[in-house]
Amino acid sequence: MSASYDVRGNVAVITLNNPPVNGLGYDTRRGIADGIDRANADPAIKAIVITGAGRAFSGGADIREFGTPKAIAEPNLLSLILQAEGSAKPIVAALHSVVMGGGLELSLGCHYRVAAAGTQIALPEVKIGLVPGAGGTQRLPRVLGVETALNMIVSGEPVKSEMLAMIPGQKLIDKMIDGDLLAGAIAFATEVADKRPLPLVRNLKATHPNADGYFAFARNTVKAMAKNFPAPAKCVDCVEAAVSMKFDDGMRFERDTFLALMLTPESKALRHAFLGERAASKIPDVPEDTPQRKIEKVAVIGAGTMGGGISMNFLNAGIPVTILEMKQDALDRGVGVMRKNYEAQVKKGKLKQDKYDQRMALLKTTLSYDDIKDADLVIEAVFEEMGVKEGVFKTLDEVMKPGAILASNTSTLDLNKIAAFTRRPQDVIGTHFFSPANVMKLLEVVRGEKTAKDVLATVMAVGKKIKKTAVVSGVCDGFIGNRMIEQYSRQAGFLLDEGCTPVQVDKAIEKFGFAMGPFRMGDLAGNDIGWAIRKRRAVEYPDLKYSKTADLLCEMGRYGQKAQAGWYDYVAGKRDAIPSPVVVEMIEKHRASLGITPRKIGDDEIVQRLVFALVNEGARILEEGIASKASDIDMIYLTGYGFPVWRGGPMCYADTVGLFNVVQAMKRFAQNPRDDAAFWQPAPLLAKLAAEGKSFT
Ligand code: NAI
Repeated sequence: MSASYDVRGNVAVITLNNPPVNGLGYDTRRGIADGIDRANADPAIKAIVITGAGRAFSGGADIREFGTPKAIAEPNLLSLILQAEGSAKPIVAALHSVVMGGGLELSLGCHYRVAAAGTQIALPEVKIGLVPGAGGTQRLPRVLGVETALNMIVSGEPVKSEMLAMIPGQKLIDKMIDGDLLAGAIAFATEVADKRPLPLVRNLKATHPNADGYFAFARNTVKAMAKNFPAPAKCVDCVEAAVSMKFDDGMRFERDTFLALMLTPESKALRHAFLGERAASKIPDVPEDTPQRKIEKVAVIGAGTMGGGISMNFLNAGIPVTILEMKQDALDRGVGVMRKNYEAQVKKGKLKQDKYDQRMALLKTTLSYDDIKDADLVIEAVFEEMGVKEGVFKTLDEVMKPGAILASNTSTLDLNKIAAFTRRPQDVIGTHFFSPANVMKLLEVVRGEKTAKDVLATVMAVGKKIKKTAVVSGVCDGFIGNRMIEQYSRQAGFLLDEGCTPVQVDKAIEKFGFAMGPFRMGDLAGNDIGWAIRKRRAVEYPDLKYSKTADLLCEMGRYGQKAQAGWYDYVAGKRDAIPSPVVVEMIEKHRASLGITPRKIGDDEIVQRLVFALVNEGARILEEGIASKASDIDMIYLTGYGFPVWRGGPMCYADTVGLFNVVQAMKRFAQNPRDDAAFWQPAPLLAKLAAEGKSFT
């Protein structure tokens, strides 16, 4: 049973005990329900306190149960709340730490609520594409007022108990408790034990002096903000129902809305991402209790674009960093960029001056390896050349203390080779940050052939500490993210050859929801980077076909934003992409030289070719074990490549479309005389799953 029952004097105490956050899974609900029954049956008991053990009152429903029989098994959340409401003896919810979703809804079914200061209170269901489904939208407006409740429900953001307790006329928190919460709750319960009738939130009224005007305004505001997500607007509908309908009708309305949203692809995608984030930290053959190495001091080699951003992550987390460079001026430049970054945050009011000072005080710079030899973790971010990496790793092997973790930020080189430069390949790992490294959420953690399990577990935990979404990748060319994007870029090039313009391709995929189309992205990252990669790949994979347009572009010196000319034209100091007649002419000339008559290509075809190119390579990556699960690939695309969140990532999207349909489309593309039939050969895993009517996830 995941809830315990104790008696303190005349008060029964039911304590939720389902770590880490007392999720309201079946066993916990059963435990609470039994506790309420037992207390009511015991004549010595006069009142009941419900609280949570450990780090939360309750974080809410157990979303792993969603869509399974367990979620609706009696007592479900709704019936449990009804049981609490109907208890003949008063129930006091003792709120602390975290009170979210179903946890808050349960407490609203109790007769009283007392709270400790600092309790984070929220109905976060909107973040997984839902409305609260156990009365939250009906009861919260009744205790907090319509506007405060709607703000909380639409944003899903937590508000501290002491803030809510200050709202005039609020009935959410009957008493704030200083000191021992449980003792305070028991005292409160004793005080109210004989009071009748028992107060029920459902008997309160949710009113607004100008309800029609207010809800019209709220609906407009929400619509503008929530573009692709249906749930926020539904939150408005539900809160309006709390005002306009009788309590039980409002409850039914909320329930129907909740169930309808459960079936939307948007909610499925958001739940997939929510669970995917948690699943990413679980590595099949690395148990959760794998011992970790202590990381208290970090060194970064190279103060360039990446080294600076990487260092900032650790400074922000309060971990001291020493950056090592070859020359003083490179160090000064690197630290200057970091300062500028922080100062911009201070100017915008996002960072306090004293925090900035504290962070910079944690930073040291050096030209000597002697100053970094006791670092627990060293991250190399020098030039992307094997010879340079070799020099650095041989030196690290000489100087670093035993047990130090040696990480490389390489984006394209073979990590196993880098590890082999040392006599301790078990301590070598890849930490592939994305640019700008202080901003981007994604961290690909590259597991070498010999990387030790405790090194992997430590780096995953470090990733969490610096607030990254850390996802494990095996070693292969480009790791997971860039290996897939390579196929996407190749398709984008073929689309130009066949008749598209860069604007058309970018617009189509941006309409699909990508933050940026492939050509705008190329201009931002620098087209010369892809050029260098293609030159290398031309040697390694001589048969690989590319459109020549990207090379022709680079031969024109159009490297992107930094050259104020790329696939688009740019005005100095601005980032707006202006369609370029010169580029269109180049593409047309090249097309003519290939003897291609341009054809009109629809947005649907553009999107499918780009996204299915990702999916097919993703399937290979899964099959080869480079990624251990499909959701890892999705997390990489959601957090590092601007894939639309409400579509859940490429693999989740393919599942939504249906793998059979994906394969059919690929077969159609393979017929296209200009397209590369080999390109559209379905990966064996994809073909197999499609044939069996299965999905990736
Ligand atoms: P960068 O050229 O901006 O910086 C490299 C820095 O390393 C320079 O400041 C250079 O002086 C220093 N350096 C070179 N050799 C050194 C040595 N032997 N000892 C100490 N310092 C040395 O390069 P960037 O862009 O920061 O890239 C660094 C690494 O990060 C590369 O492996 C790159 O592939 C990888 N990477 C780059 C991304 C990007 O978007 N720029 C994204 C992800 C990974």
